[in-house]
Amino acid sequence: MASIHSDNEKKLAALEALKYVTNGMILGLGSGSTAEHMIHGLGVKVSEGLQVKGVPSSERSAELARELDIPLTTLEDCGKLDLTIDGADEFDPELRLIKGGGGALLREKILAHNSKMNIIITDSSKAVERLGAFKLPVEIIPLAVWPILEELNAMELQPVLRKTGQTNYRTDENNFILDLNILKQDDLTALNDTLLSIPGVVETGLFLDTTNILIMGKREGTTTIRRA
Ligand code: A5P
Repeated sequence: MASIHSDNEKKLAALEALKYVTNGMILGLGSGSTAEHMIHGLGVKVSEGLQVKGVPSSERSAELARELDIPLTTLEDCGKLDLTIDGADEFDPELRLIKGGGGALLREKILAHNSKMNIIITDSSKAVERLGAFKLPVEIIPLAVWPILEELNAMELQPVLRKTGQTNYRTDENNFILDLNILKQDDLTALNDTLLSIPGVVETGLFLDTTNILIMGKREGTTTIRRA
C-alpha cells in the first residue's frame, strides 16, 4: 500500500502535468493510482469549463472519467491523441519505463504510440538507475501460456503467471499477464524484440522510447525531466 508521502508526490506530479492540458485537446488517460489523481484533477477542470475529450487506457479509468463527466472518445473517432498522461512502475535515467503493474500495459502502449506527446507522472520511489527491480509484465494470449512459460524459463526470465486469488488474472482484453525477472538483461531493446517475436506474446511493459516528459513528485514539489 502506498504511503501518504508517496501518494502526495503522485498527486503533485498529476497536478503539474495538467498544466500542459489546453482547450480542445484529445487526451489519453492513463491507468493506476497516479493517473487517477490526474483524472480527478481533469474532472475539476472540465467542471470549470475546460473542453477536452479523453481516451481511457483501461475500463477502470473509463469508469472514473464517466463518474467525473469527462467526455470520452475512441482512437477510431479521433485518430492521433494530442497528449497522454500516464503513470509508471519504474523509470531509468533515459526515461525508459516498466509499466503494467496494474495490468493495463497493452492499451497504455497503444495510446502512447498514438500520442503526439507523452507525459509520465510518478512519485520519487519509481526512479531507478537500472530497470528490473520491478518484475516486467508481459501480456500473452491464454492459449499459448504453457509453451511461452517454457520458452521464458529457458531464457532464465523466471516467468510468473499473475493471479487474482486462486484464479489467473485477466486483462481488459481477456489475456493473461506473466511477470518476468529482467534484472540480468543488459540489452532491453533486444529483450523487447525477442519477447515480441514469440507467438502468443501480445505486448510487453517495456516503454523504451515513448516518453517526452517525466514529472516526478518529490517531497513538497515536482521535478520535470525532458527527454534529451
Ligand atoms: C498500469 O497498468 C500501470 O502501467 C501503471 O501506470 C503503473 O502501474 C503505475 O501505477 P501507480 O500510479 O498506481 O503507481
